[in-house]
Amino acid sequence: MKGLILSGGSGRRLRPLTHTSAKQLVPIANVPILHYVVADLVGVGITDIGIVVGDTGNEVRASVGDGSRWGASVTYIDQEAPLGLAHAVKVAEGFLGDEPFAMYLGDNMFEDSLDEVVEGFDGSVAARLLLAHVDDPSSFGVAELASDGSIAALFEKPAEPPSDLALVGVYLFGPRIHEAVRAIEPSARGELEITDAIQWLLDSGETVEHRVLDGWWIDTGKKDPLLACNRLVLDRLGGDGVVVDDGAEVVDSTLVGPVVVAAGARILHSTVGPYVSVGGDCSIERSTVEHSVLMQGASVTDLDHLTASVLGREVEVSGVPGESVRVSLLLGDHSVVDVGGSGGCTDG
Ligand code: TTP
Repeated sequence: MKGLILSGGSGRRLRPLTHTSAKQLVPIANVPILHYVVADLVGVGITDIGIVVGDTGNEVRASVGDGSRWGASVTYIDQEAPLGLAHAVKVAEGFLGDEPFAMYLGDNMFEDSLDEVVEGFDGSVAARLLLAHVDDPSSFGVAELASDGSIAALFEKPAEPPSDLALVGVYLFGPRIHEAVRAIEPSARGELEITDAIQWLLDSGETVEHRVLDGWWIDTGKKDPLLACNRLVLDRLGGDGVVVDDGAEVVDSTLVGPVVVAAGARILHSTVGPYVSVGGDCSIERSTVEHSVLMQGASVTDLDHLTASVLGREVEVSGVPGESVRVSLLLGDHSVVDVGGSGGCTDG
């Protein structure tokens, strides 16, 4: 079985972070999301992996490389524009050929291994979907089940959902999917929808199996789920949950686990944690930071306190010494923000 990771897209929901970089490369516990995705596929024996890329392709290539670090072989597939998940399958047809494959959305993360999902799938059945019970089905692709428990129909973001079972970010397909993606037309939002392609398979009399997910699953494409994912992954750290890489400096500070601090980071006279990922070369001085992700080179100075925030690369945030203010920020790379001071705020 081959793997197909979707790492194009526009990432509108994570702007401004995604103006300058790929949302699939946002770090969770200091490791890019996409690296967990590759490792998950390799973990179930899928090593021949295609990655669909768009505007941020160069950055994705630089981060994942040829896949040899995971014992995988990675082929990059350019998608000229984010024209839909089914469009991504279409552009990957040459790579996939007639082999069964696992399609994995590059900004999704799962608690459990995919063992049970892929077990026994050989492509003789047209598709196998992964479903999860969700609170707000109208923002997902939703499955309607027949009385025998099989999938009867699929609906993309339905106003009146037929169930609370949403399609989540891993799909298994046999070769008939290629016929389906050629047969469908773009939806009202101008995308080739994977739900339409799967509906086409159902309408053609094909069997579409499903599994219902037990563990957590997160679409990291928005700030709050991204921070929730950071918390869940940091919760897996053993011991006191404090991991400080060699080459990081912590002086006169309190680290409240779980927290990870990458090499080159400096934490001075501060309280950091719980649930904070401090990226390489970050600096936190005279500040309190909790429940946040700081990407490479971000700095926080004289701020009491920063919470529920995602700071892009080289972001500079400063507060006023002795002044207490609670702020939550989502800042794109290189933003400069003075909180509570007279310096104003610039984003760029
Ligand atoms: P989405 O999160 O559904 O779409 P998006 O990336 O355009 O984000 P937003 O809605 O915030 O604008 O995409 C799921 C995954 O699939 C994600 O990793 C991006 C990827 N993708 C492609 O590779 N090609 C595409 O045409 C689309 C729509 C998404």
